Amino acid sequence: MSDMRALYQEVILDHNRKPRNWGAIANPNRHAEGHNPLCGDHVKLTMNVEDGRIESIAFEGVGCAICKASASMMTGAVKGRNTEEAEQMVEEFRGMATGTLDPEQSHLGRLKVFAGVKDLPSRVKCAILPWHTLHAALNSEQQVSTEGASDPVPGE
Ligand code: FES
Repeated sequence: MSDMRALYQEVILDHNRKPRNWGAIANPNRHAEGHNPLCGDHVKLTMNVEDGRIESIAFEGVGCAICKASASMMTGAVKGRNTEEAEQMVEEFRGMATGTLDPEQSHLGRLKVFAGVKDLPSRVKCAILPWHTLHAALNSEQQVSTEGASDPVPGE
C-alpha cells in the first residue's frame, strides 16, 4: 500500500478532482480517441496546432484517477509547446512509466510525480493512455489502443 499512497499524492488527487483543460475544442484540426480495452476507459483529445505549435488542447472521457490526472497534467504541459517538444515528452513519459528512463534525465517537470507507476504494472497503461492519444493526434491517427502494437508493457 505504501506505493499506492505515494502515487496518490495530493497533486494527482487534485487533478483528478479538478481536471484542467476538460472538454472539447471547437473545430479542432487534430483529434484522437484512445482506448484501454482492459478496463473500457477512453480519452478523447482535441487540439489546434498552428505553425507547428499546440495552441489549444482539451480532453474528455472516462478514466481512473491516474488516467484523468495524467491527461490533465499532460494537456497543461504541452499547451504552447511545439510538436517536436510534445513528441519528446511522449517518449520520455513512456520511458519513465515503463522504467526505462530515469526521470531525472527527462524534461518532465511536475509529471515526474507519475514515476511510481513503473512499480505498479497494472497502472502503467492508465498513466500512458493520454500520451498514446496525444501521439496519435499529432500523427493524424484517430483511434489508438493501449493493447496490440502500441502496448507499452507487452506480456503484462
Ligand atoms: Fe482504466 Fe485506469 S483503470 S485507465
